[in-house]
Amino acid sequence: MEFDKIFINNALLLAPMEDVTDLPFRVICKRQGADIVYSEFIASEGIVRDSARSKQKMEIAEEERPCAIQIFGHDVENMVKSAKVVEDSGADFIDINYGCWVKKVVTRNAGAALLKDPDKMAEMTRRVAESVDIPVTVKTRLGWSKDEIVILKVAPMLEQAGAKALAVHCRTRDQGMKGPVDWNWIPRIKEVVGIPVILNGDVITPEDTKRAFEATGCDAVMIGRGAIGNPFLFKRSKLYLQSGELPPEPSAEERINVCLGHLELSLKYKGFPRGLYEFRKHYGGYLKGLFNASSVRQKLVVAGSFEECSRLLQDYLEYLVKEDRI
Ligand SMILES: Cc1cc2nc3c(=O)[nH]c(=O)nc-3n(C[C@H](O)[C@H](O)[C@H](O)COP(=O)(O)O)c2cc1C
Repeated sequence: MEFDKIFINNALLLAPMEDVTDLPFRVICKRQGADIVYSEFIASEGIVRDSARSKQKMEIAEEERPCAIQIFGHDVENMVKSAKVVEDSGADFIDINYGCWVKKVVTRNAGAALLKDPDKMAEMTRRVAESVDIPVTVKTRLGWSKDEIVILKVAPMLEQAGAKALAVHCRTRDQGMKGPVDWNWIPRIKEVVGIPVILNGDVITPEDTKRAFEATGCDAVMIGRGAIGNPFLFKRSKLYLQSGELPPEPSAEERINVCLGHLELSLKYKGFPRGLYEFRKHYGGYLKGLFNASSVRQKLVVAGSFEECSRLLQDYLEYLVKEDRI
């Protein structure tokens, strides 16, 4: 499949996030308007070893397509081998992670560490792109530090190496996840490449989404933390982009229905009890801002079945109606 067939104008993408963008969450974001979703990063070594955990992370549901599987590593041969496995597993495209800043990754010369070695980055991209028939994209940062911003040099190298799109988290590796993002680099990157440029970093409201497209001319916006506990952001951003009118926040009823749908997916794909336990971190996000939410949340995190959770949430909704807090 060609990437331009996957890619649509003004696309909104769900960013890859470790321990967040698992299959159930991706499906929920898709249902809520995300155009393209990404798996969390998967170590190429784990894929090559055929580890059960990697296999599970590569699982994709039809409903969520197009879905990227993101891989990372330092060894080109392992990256090539793992790309083939990912292709055989049915991914729509492969994304290579050159942006991860965490110590355990960069000290192994993977993720953002490759920003220190643009030639290796290009070589890795070329070898991976040549080894599979599905499109290969990359996600990276501006550079290692504010004094070593290399994106304008690296972007054309990645394009020439065969990358079909470039997502840029507009921070340096040194910034980690903090400090200001600098979207001003996006138009400059667009001047030096012809492939779609995807803006990433600090898009957390529909207004941010609109500003990102208008201020930078980016081809797509990739949303990470803004979608955690708030998958509604995709649909609300789309409506805002189309009409210019800010849609209302999701109602308590909508939040609870989506929460239950998400829990159902978690149990479907992860089984019981894992699907129930791993879902517990999501209640806070879905119930955030609702009246007296902590009372029901405390019960939800110890509830032992879908039926119990469903009953607790329905009772809570009735309580909100009765208290006129809806
Ligand atoms: C919990 C968490 C896990 C992340 N895991 C990944 C990952 O696996 N691969 C990746 O490329 N980026 C990862 N990131 C970075 C995000 O994809 C994104 O670049 C970053 O959060 C900035 O975008 P945002 O401001 O929209 O959150 C992660 C971020 C968070 C918060």
